Amino acid sequence: MSDAALDVVEFLLTTSVYSDDRTLDENDLPPAFRRVFWTGGDGEDGTGDETGGTGTYSGISRPLSATNSTARQATGVDQPWEAVSELMFTERDEFSGTITLAQEEMAEQWFVERVDEDRLLENPTLAKHFESDPDAEFDVEVSHEEARSRNRPIQADRVWIDGLLEEYFDEDDDEDMLDLVDVRAPEEVDITLDDLVLTEGQESEIDKISKAIEHRDYLARIGLREIGKLLFVGPPGTGKTSTAQALARDMDLPFVEVKLSMITSQYLGETAKNVDKTFEVAKRLSPCILFIDEFDFVAKTRRSDEHAALKRAVNTLLKSIDNISLIEDDVLLIGATNHPDQLDDAAWRRFDEIINFPKPDYGMRADILRVITRTMDIQEFDPQLIAEITEGLTGSDLRMVLREAVLEALTEDRTTLTQEDLLNAVEEFEERDSLKNMDMIEGDHDALVAGGDLGKASDGGHDHDHSHGGHDHDHSHDGHDHDH
Ligand SMILES: Nc1ncnc2c1ncn2[C@@H]1O[C@H](COP(=O)(O)OP(=O)(O)OP(=O)(O)O)[C@@H](O)[C@H]1O
Ligand SMILES: [Mg+2]
Repeated sequence: MSDAALDVVEFLLTTSVYSDDRTLDENDLPPAFRRVFWTGGDGEDGTGDETGGTGTYSGISRPLSATNSTARQATGVDQPWEAVSELMFTERDEFSGTITLAQEEMAEQWFVERVDEDRLLENPTLAKHFESDPDAEFDVEVSHEEARSRNRPIQADRVWIDGLLEEYFDEDDDEDMLDLVDVRAPEEVDITLDDLVLTEGQESEIDKISKAIEHRDYLARIGLREIGKLLFVGPPGTGKTSTAQALARDMDLPFVEVKLSMITSQYLGETAKNVDKTFEVAKRLSPCILFIDEFDFVAKTRRSDEHAALKRAVNTLLKSIDNISLIEDDVLLIGATNHPDQLDDAAWRRFDEIINFPKPDYGMRADILRVITRTMDIQEFDPQLIAEITEGLTGSDLRMVLREAVLEALTEDRTTLTQEDLLNAVEEFEERDSLKNMDMIEGDHDALVAGGDLGKASDGGHDHDHSHGGHDHDHSHDGHDHDH
């Protein structure tokens, strides 16, 4: 009960202080609060302006009204009024449902007695209020500036992103546009750097770039601008996309993804314009991460005999990349490719830093297994042993192995796995893998006929999985079969 009361009183104080202090803006409200009061984008808030031109107003208008419903949305407390009705300083207008602080000073006193500084730092509005308290009658030491720098900027909120996208792309004309660009708020990304096993090289590059982002004012001052364009290079499933997303999530930046392959499916005349718009959006969303997957597409298009409009789009893209910068625009650009061999000089040149995403080695595989099984229950789990027999598998392959083991166990109504389930799943995975690499016309006839024995087919002298660039599974399982 007391926690709920504290939550609701914080909300009441915040709405009251924010309503009175006009120097405060959206970025002084904690994300959970401002989400409730944000209007715009959907055109509902009739400002009566139908003439176009000015567009719909979006933002937060004063005064902020605290009712049972807004308080519930903002705090997650089920019965906000119930939670605070016993307190002497609260009051509710039966008619409008508004909850107010009848005795604001008493409320402040009550609040500071119960709140700790860490929590106050998460609320810049209140941090400022208590910091600038003239009589210094409250014994709290918080800095408004620090609270603001800790608070996630409004540009990273879904509501803000949606409003911006609607402003740029009107829905009917720009359906295609929404296939080309996908924007995610950091809160919508569900992977963090903690979930990823990185090489030392990757870790130190990520450290470097985080520091650069933190100190970009300094870098601008000393004129160091060639920074903030990264290219992730490596085979499928090695964590390129995940790392870029995790960076967005951990640094609280919106994740703007351009899908180059969608360019071809677009109405070509519009493509160059849409590429331009995408970069404009990224600049407006900044600070943000702009992720361009399948970057080899650029080089391929420039080389090939493509439609002139498509080439124009790709040139626009290259030019836009030149014109965007981490230091000036607060946009971190990350490109990714599985085919570094296909990149031409023009493409390479655009990146300041190339980061290698190799297939994981033995130690990394064991770590990846530990990470992805963190919340699973596995008896006699021996990740090192699994790592030994999975040479050549990527992080994504290992996830697939685990998924297989989990589903298999579920068919026996088990939610506790055993090491043996994992061993079987590895074997299963390798069978799939040899199917993938199988030559459907020339060989492996046994396997192509129902009832044929897959294992026999790939052992049958063809040596298929070694000659097709698949995984190098030239190890035997015999030593590891603990079951007999
Ligand atoms: N090093 C790793 N540590 C933990 N998980 C990993 C690692 N590498 C890959 N994964 C997992 O594998 C899955 C696929 O990874 P991701 O999509 O990031 O690969 P990718 O390199 O972008 O592949 P592609 O080139 O096919 O786009 C994700 O669920 C990711 O979490
Ligand atoms: Mg990817």
